[in-house]
Amino acid sequence: MAIRGILKYPDPFLKKKTKPVEKIDDEIRTLIDDMVETMYSAKGIGLAANQVGVDKSVVVLDVPDGDDRENYEKGKNLVAVINPLIVAQDGEIIYEEGCLSIPDFTADVNRFERIVVSGIDRHGKGMEIKAEGLFAIALQHEIDHLNGILFIDRLSRLKREFIKKKILKSIKDEEKRL
Ligand code: NI
Repeated sequence: MAIRGILKYPDPFLKKKTKPVEKIDDEIRTLIDDMVETMYSAKGIGLAANQVGVDKSVVVLDVPDGDDRENYEKGKNLVAVINPLIVAQDGEIIYEEGCLSIPDFTADVNRFERIVVSGIDRHGKGMEIKAEGLFAIALQHEIDHLNGILFIDRLSRLKREFIKKKILKSIKDEEKRL
């Protein structure tokens, strides 16, 4: 297993829709293992393949049951979904989201409260996930990534322009320091 580099906004690769996986082989399983290790090392609860520069529809998540994002039982809720697709949705929930590709920035995002996702597991078997609350939010966030959508794209135009300016300014300031 290996930790892979995480692409950061405004990398254009993050805006590209990923390709569906057609063959579940060892390459995909290695990708999944690497994504899990990368997610844990970055202290994330979800990661999409295009965030590590791979044009494939794969997401991994490990969403804690409680609010403690630091000390939770890692692996308990670990799930990897290939070619995930939201097949049912209902309710509404607002949550302050962040993203490993947009470090240090968060914003309130509107999501469905409950969703059903279909997909394929690492052995090529079909799977269906019923999710609610933070797990449903994280799944929608990661599936958005596969479609080239970042959480800031879900904000109202005004808020989106405001936060994009702030992010780009902080990147420039960071570059000046280096
Ligand atoms: Ni993200």
